[in-house]
Amino acid sequence: MPTLYDEVGGEPFFQELVERFYARVREDEVLWPMYPADDLDGAIHRLATFLAQFFGGPSSYSAERGHPRLRMRHAPFHVNPEARDHWLEHMTRAVEEMGPAPIHREAMLDYFDRASRALINTFEPTPPVGERGPKGDTDLGILA
Ligand code: HEM
Repeated sequence: MPTLYDEVGGEPFFQELVERFYARVREDEVLWPMYPADDLDGAIHRLATFLAQFFGGPSSYSAERGHPRLRMRHAPFHVNPEARDHWLEHMTRAVEEMGPAPIHREAMLDYFDRASRALINTFEPTPPVGERGPKGDTDLGILA
């Protein structure tokens, strides 16, 4: 049985999807202060390999990073409903730009809606830049 990964075109689809997503995140004043500006290619690679694996592609993410444990890996970041809404908006736009078949579009958007909600870890308002979690800070284990 071909998986969603196969049907949307495999690894190149997820690479481009995540590049489009990060192009938006870079312009986002709520989200960008959390991300590692000096390792954007690494961040693109981590998310693209995770999504490829999740949607039925090769298990490169787990080979490279171990068990995803996304709640734990997001714990250092200030993921409040505002951050979640921004994240989901950018990913939704990126999916729409890629133009997958409607059945795959719905499967992806449904997953991103649920997964992003599940990663909310605070209801405190967005704090000042510098207090939203590591910016390329490897000390907290997010990149370990
Ligand atoms: C809810 C809003 C979200 C915020 C604010 C957020 C934020 C972040 C940040 C700041 C990083 C560190 C970037 C890096 O160095 O890789 C990260 C990593 C990551 N995020 Fe999210 N994220 C969100 C939702 C999601 C969702 C819904 C998924 C999965 C569908 C996801 C999957 C990942 C993965 C796989 C990594 C890399 C983990 C690793 O191996 O270190 N994130 N996220």
